[in-house]
Amino acid sequence: MLNNDLSNKVAVVTGGADGIGEGIVRTLCGRGAHVVIADIQDEKGSAIAAELGVSVSFALLDVTEPDSWSNLVTEVESSCGRLDILVNNAGGGGFGNLDQLTIEEWRKIMALNMDSVFLGCKAASTLLQADGGGSIINISSTNANRAWPMFSGYCAAKAGMTMFSKCVAQHFLETNVKIRCNTVHPGPIETPNFKRLSAAEGAEQLMADWEKNNPFTEIGTVEDIGEVVAFLASDAARYVNASEFVAAGGTLL
Ligand SMILES: NC(=O)c1ccc[n+]([C@@H]2O[C@H](COP(=O)([O-])OP(=O)(O)OC[C@H]3O[C@@H](n4cnc5c(N)ncnc54)[C@H](O)[C@@H]3O)[C@@H](O)[C@H]2O)c1
Repeated sequence: MLNNDLSNKVAVVTGGADGIGEGIVRTLCGRGAHVVIADIQDEKGSAIAAELGVSVSFALLDVTEPDSWSNLVTEVESSCGRLDILVNNAGGGGFGNLDQLTIEEWRKIMALNMDSVFLGCKAASTLLQADGGGSIINISSTNANRAWPMFSGYCAAKAGMTMFSKCVAQHFLETNVKIRCNTVHPGPIETPNFKRLSAAEGAEQLMADWEKNNPFTEIGTVEDIGEVVAFLASDAARYVNASEFVAAGGTLL
């Protein structure tokens, strides 16, 4: 039987101090992994690490900065000696259609959702390979699969990082490196960012439309995403690669 236990594995979760990332940290830790919370929120990240005990630590990371990634990988190597799982979760975006979005906003969205994943995969690749390989899980969105003009920059960034993830998976196959790379595409999940967006001006209509079109579907929880990530991180998913996992309660139909 294939093993979904994560004992003896080391994981880095970006944006692990809040929202979906925090849910992923708690799930991976519950399955036995040592988890490094990598986030810009040092107080919240350190508090979660203190609460969860020795199997969780905190490291400061700005996912948009190459030097910050180098420092993180050096720190993980010296404190944990290995890396098996990288979850590129930090991301997000705001409203803005073609007429509204400025180039500055566009670049910010690309940096947080695309540069972050590029930099993370590149920085962690050598350490992931060092002990025989591992699993990269990039948190995309159903916005990568459906055009939503109000989220044009975010849709573009998540579609871009999804395709980049497939290229990463293919690259490792071609170079005979045993690192799998998959994406997870959440639907609406109750997090601080989701609360901010759904309370913002202009969001009422969006939420009302969503509820009308999805009368049987609840808003998801961070645990719903944590479970999918834990499977992809484990050896039970050894044959799962370059795939998109939609966790959206059927709302992408
Ligand atoms: N919540 C949803 O409904 C939803 C749906 C689909 C996809 N997603 C995706 O899931 C991921 C997490 O979303 P969330 O709703 O939990 O977001 P959130 O804003 O609630 O939490 C994001 C976390 O990332 C951290 N972070 C932000 N910028 C960072 C940076 N530059 N470097 C390091 N850490 C940084 C924050 O401090 C925070 O801890 C994102 O990639 C988002 O696009 C969310």
